[in-house]
Amino acid sequence: MSWSRSWSRSRSSSWSSTAWLHRRIVRAPAAKPADMTGKTVVVTGASPGSLGAATARLLAEWGAEVVTTTRSGGSHPLDLTDSGSVRRFAGWYGEQHDTLDVLINNAGIHLDLMSDWKEPRLSADGYELHWRTNYLGTMQLTHLLLPTLLRTAERTGEARVVNVVSKLHLRGRNAHMFSPPPSYSSWNAYGQSKLALVHATHELQDHHRAAGVRAYALHPGAVCTGIATKGLEGHPVVGTVRKALGPVERLFLLTPEEGAQTTLMCATEPGLEGGRYFVGCRPVPASDEAEDREVAGRLWKETEALVSGL
Ligand SMILES: NC(=O)c1ccc[n+]([C@@H]2O[C@H](COP(=O)([O-])OP(=O)(O)OC[C@H]3O[C@@H](n4cnc5c(N)ncnc54)[C@H](OP(=O)(O)O)[C@@H]3O)[C@@H](O)[C@H]2O)c1
Repeated sequence: MSWSRSWSRSRSSSWSSTAWLHRRIVRAPAAKPADMTGKTVVVTGASPGSLGAATARLLAEWGAEVVTTTRSGGSHPLDLTDSGSVRRFAGWYGEQHDTLDVLINNAGIHLDLMSDWKEPRLSADGYELHWRTNYLGTMQLTHLLLPTLLRTAERTGEARVVNVVSKLHLRGRNAHMFSPPPSYSSWNAYGQSKLALVHATHELQDHHRAAGVRAYALHPGAVCTGIATKGLEGHPVVGTVRKALGPVERLFLLTPEEGAQTTLMCATEPGLEGGRYFVGCRPVPASDEAEDREVAGRLWKETEALVSGL
């Protein structure tokens, strides 16, 4: 046997044992593949290596027409912190498509993972950045695409909105939903934006269930994407250590394809009851704060008024 052949065999066997170990550790459940032929899906935040990219690729493999967005190019431009950009994307979509079966609100940020910021960083129009991106921009987009979702539901019987949130919505507090907390934490701000999106999932479902719109919220798991790299910007030493520990990190974190499974299930599983929160392809209770329907109702009304003026 040649050296190169025995080397490549031992290398591939060490890769397959690493893959085996990874699967044993993460035990990621898989969504059942569905026939999405004839369905149109929008997936926001589909940059290379992201959950959105994996979600879009798998949905396309299942037959869907998939429209993806990024801020940085490669697919349709959409910046959720810029209301003009959101309007332009929704306008373009409406001109090109008269149907939208599934809107997957996946784009999001989690910045300042080392909690350096003592004050909130603001968007150009003055909102805390996580709130502006993960919640307000997402809600503006959803409201602008809602007429197309409703028309689709009228024609086909169903349309879906899938909100990729996070288990960190547990850090959100209803007490700070309408006025800022006394001190700033980027982790709490991230959690707040995701709690608001869980509330919005419940409201969307209640308001439009009769018309055939179903809404879902989900935590994708701890997934190896670009989110942590962006969150650790400005910390080169931590970045170098992370890079060195990359193979170990990848053993424990889900791949984007594994992390996309709960999103895929919410987007495609026939008859799946809406208005719920999912983890690992199963419905689970969201945080206690997420159960406060009075807060959800007030947030929905205030958000509707706000985004219609953006
Ligand atoms: N990875 C995890 O472990 C994890 C855990 C829980 C929840 N999540 C959620 O999963 C979703 C996907 O995250 P990911 O892990 O795939 O992260 P990622 O690799 O950083 O991808 C996030 C995507 O969102 C886009 N985005 C960021 N800011 C935006 C803005 N202002 N307007 C429009 N698009 C914007 C990014 O575009 P650019 O490339 O242009 O920045 C990128 O395409 C997020 O909502 C995140 O909160 C992730």
